[in-house]
Amino acid sequence: MQEGCGKVILLGEHGVVYGRPALAASIGSGATAEASAFGSNCLEVEPWGVRLELPPPLSSVPHSLERAFEAVLNTYAERPRVRVQARVSLPAGAGLGCSAALGVAVIRAIDAHVGVTRSPAEVAEASLVWERVFHGNPSGVDSWMAAGAGLALYRKQRPLEAVKAERPLPLVIANSNEPSSTATMVDGVANRREDDEVGVEALFDDIAELVLKGRTAVEAGDLPLLGSLFDDNAALLCALGLETQKLESLCTAARSAGALGAKLTGAGGGGCMIALVADSAAGEAVMAALRECGVEPFYTEAS
Ligand code: PMV
Repeated sequence: MQEGCGKVILLGEHGVVYGRPALAASIGSGATAEASAFGSNCLEVEPWGVRLELPPPLSSVPHSLERAFEAVLNTYAERPRVRVQARVSLPAGAGLGCSAALGVAVIRAIDAHVGVTRSPAEVAEASLVWERVFHGNPSGVDSWMAAGAGLALYRKQRPLEAVKAERPLPLVIANSNEPSSTATMVDGVANRREDDEVGVEALFDDIAELVLKGRTAVEAGDLPLLGSLFDDNAALLCALGLETQKLESLCTAARSAGALGAKLTGAGGGGCMIALVADSAAGEAVMAALRECGVEPFYTEAS
């Protein structure tokens, strides 16, 4: 079984689309896939109950997954004939890199079947054709994290910089359950930038500055500083119009329950929030407060 990781952006979403750095971490398995010989091409995704065969019936409008699968198959010198059975374990459209995790798992499954060997960086590069179908203009951070980059500073078209955490970062993650489209949110920021390029670029510069401070905080194990940077980043994302009332109320609840900082993660406009906590015991208190808000949080450690 081949794997793609989920991811969490600790600091720097959206600025990363415009060449600024982002601090992100892979978080466990997000999707798995296996490929076997088949007469044509077929992709099955559980637990979504999706089964797609290529070519699709002439009358149908191609599903994004069909287009993404087609794009991946076309990258092989000899188009493979495979049935790929995949399983995702992340919510879609929630900012945790579900589509990238699935894309990476699918590519690795096909690679294993046809005998192609690639480095994680090559897998990340190859999976961009998949990610573009869902996200239009992806920075690539999701693909790199899905390929298992660990904790790293990502900048478009630059070598990934691994970040060595002095201690694991205890995180509480909660899905607002407000569905969000990354492509729509990225387009929204692009429109804002068109209206006010100077203002939006200045916000990106502020985000970039706190990403670099965040890397230093992670390397020093300074969780209180990192937490305050989460809060600063949240304010900048709010200024870009990416917060929702629900996300804001979840962040406020987390902070009141002792989180060191909290922010949305990913594209915003819904999806997940992350809170940095001092340790797992503090995480329990924050999770209890979030459950009171009607969401189902989970605890993880990024390292
Ligand atoms: O919502 P997600 O998990 O796809 O994260 C998007 C992160 C953005 O910076 C908003 C877009 C990107 O391509 O980096």
